Amino acid sequence: MTEVAFLLNGTPMRVAITDPTRTLLDWLREDRGLTGTKEGCNEGDCGACTVMVTGTDGPRALNACILFLPQLQGKAVRTVEGIGTPDSPHPAQTAMVDHHASQCGYCTPGFVMSMVTAHASGATDHDDQLAGNLCRCTGYAPILRAAHATTAAPVPDWVAQDRAAPIFLPEILPGESPSGDGGRQPPALACHMPRSTDELATLYAAHPEATLVAGATDVGLWVTKGMQDIRPAIFLAQVAELRGIAMTDTEIRIGAMASLADLRAAIAPLHPSFAELIRRYGSEQVRNAATVGGNIANGSPIGDSPPPLIALGATLHLRHGTTRRTLSLEDFFIGYGKQDRRPGEFLEAITLPRQPDRLRVYKISKRFDQDISALCGAFNITVIDGTVTAARIAFGGMAATPKRAAAVEAALLGQPWTEATIATAQGAFAQDFAPIDDMRASAAYRLETARNLLHRYWLEDQGIRASVLEVTP
Ligand SMILES: Cc1cc2nc3c(=O)[nH]c(=O)nc-3n(C[C@H](O)[C@H](O)[C@H](O)COP(=O)(O)OP(=O)(O)OC[C@H]3O[C@@H](n4cnc5c(N)ncnc54)[C@H](O)[C@@H]3O)c2cc1C
Ligand code: FES
Ligand code: FES
Repeated sequence: MTEVAFLLNGTPMRVAITDPTRTLLDWLREDRGLTGTKEGCNEGDCGACTVMVTGTDGPRALNACILFLPQLQGKAVRTVEGIGTPDSPHPAQTAMVDHHASQCGYCTPGFVMSMVTAHASGATDHDDQLAGNLCRCTGYAPILRAAHATTAAPVPDWVAQDRAAPIFLPEILPGESPSGDGGRQPPALACHMPRSTDELATLYAAHPEATLVAGATDVGLWVTKGMQDIRPAIFLAQVAELRGIAMTDTEIRIGAMASLADLRAAIAPLHPSFAELIRRYGSEQVRNAATVGGNIANGSPIGDSPPPLIALGATLHLRHGTTRRTLSLEDFFIGYGKQDRRPGEFLEAITLPRQPDRLRVYKISKRFDQDISALCGAFNITVIDGTVTAARIAFGGMAATPKRAAAVEAALLGQPWTEATIATAQGAFAQDFAPIDDMRASAAYRLETARNLLHRYWLEDQGIRASVLEVTP
C-alpha cells in the first residue's frame, strides 16, 4: 500500500504515503494550505483541529492532530473550508455570528466543525458534543446558544455526498495525482493496511515488532508528544470484521475495533450505567476514534472500560496466526505495563455474557468532562432473597493494573444484603488495594472513596439516590 485515497471537501485525493505517521492536521495545513484547521494542544485535548470524517458509520467529529493519513482510506473529510461559502455559510457559521460566539477566533473552526458534525448526524446533546472543544475567551454560553440555533436548519446537500463516498473503492477513485505528504521522510514505507483478520494475523505474526494502530488516541501521542518512530506500523482501520458489535440471547460480542462511541450506543439499553461512564470518557472526538481493543491492550491502570468489562465477566479473544485462545479480562493484566499477550498476537474481540442489569460504574475525576479517572469503580452484585449470591467488583486507579476486589467480594458473598454487611466489606478494601499517591488523588482519598462507592451502590440499590447523592458538576 503506497497510497491513501479519500475525499477532501468533496474532491478525490490520492496521497502517496512516505511517512505513515504524518497527521491529517500537518498535511492539511502544510501541504494543502488549509489553515482553518488549527493546532492547539496537538494531543487530542482542545478540539481546535476538529474535522468531520464520514465513513460507513456516518459522520464523526475527529481530532486531526492525532489522526494519521492511512486512517482516512476510503473516507470523506470535511474541513471548515468545505462547509459553506461567504455568500452561503453553513447554518452553524451563521449562528456563531448571530450569537456573538467568537472573540479571538482560534477555537472557532473547531467548534463549528463539532456543530456541523452534530447537525449532520442529528445529535442534539450539545453539552456532550462540544465538551471536547475548549475556548479561552468567549465563554461557552453563546457557543451553546449557537449550537441550539443550528439544530432546526436544513442539512446541506454535501453531507449526503460525503455519506455516499465510502462506497467508492479507493482503487477506482478518479483522484488527482498523488500529492505526497511533503516528503519529510525517506520513502521507507513500513505501513501496512490489512483488510481482513486473516491478513492481519499473517502479517503481524511475521512482523511482531510492528506497532498496531487502532484509533491512535494513545499511539498518536507517542508520535506527536513522544516523538517516537512507530514504524513498521499496521493500521487496523480497514479490517471491518473487527468493528462490529453483535448480540445474541446469551452473549454480547464486541469487536476490538469497535469505538467507544459505538459501544456506548450498543450497551445503553442493557447496562445504562456503563453507557453513562462512556459519556464521560474523553470527548466526542476521542470516543469516536478510541477503540475498546486499544483501551484494553494499552494495559493502562486507569483505562475506563476494563473495570465495567471485568465486572460483567468479559472474556478476551486473542489470535496469533491461526491460533486462537480466550482469557478472562482480569487475567490479561499481569503487572504495570505487562499484559498476557505474545509478540504477534492481537485482540480480536471481547465477549460478555447477557445478564440482568445490576451494574453500576462510578468515575471519579477532578473535572466532570474530559478528564482521566483518579479511580473508576464497577460493581455487579447479585442479590437473591436478600442474600448476596454473586459479586464482581473491579477498580481502575487503585493498583498497577485494573483489578478485582477479591477480598471485598468474599466479604459480601453469602451475606445478607444489609448496611451492616456493607460496613464489614468496606474493611476488606485495604486487603485488596494499596493505592498510590499521585497528582490525581492521594492513596487515602482513593481508599476512602472506594469504600464509599460500595456504600453508594447499596444506597442506590435501596432507591436512595439522585437528589441526595448526585453531585452536580
Ligand atoms: C484527549 C484524550 C482523552 C482521553 N480520555 C480517556 C478517558 O477518559 N478514559 C480512558 O480510559 N482513556 C482515555 N484516553 C486514552 C485513550 O483514548 C484510550 O486508551 C484508547 O481507548 C486507546 O484506544 P485506541 O483505539 O485509540 O488505541 P491506539 O492508540 O491505536 O493503541 C493503543 C495501544 O493498543 C494497541 N492495540 C490497539 N488495538 C489492538 C488490538 N486489536 N490488539 C492488540 N493491540 C492493540 C496498540 O498497538 C497500542 O499499543 C484519552 C486519550 C486522549 C488523547
Ligand atoms: S490540536 Fe488540540 S485537539 Fe488537536
Ligand atoms: S474565541 Fe478565543 S479561544 Fe475561543
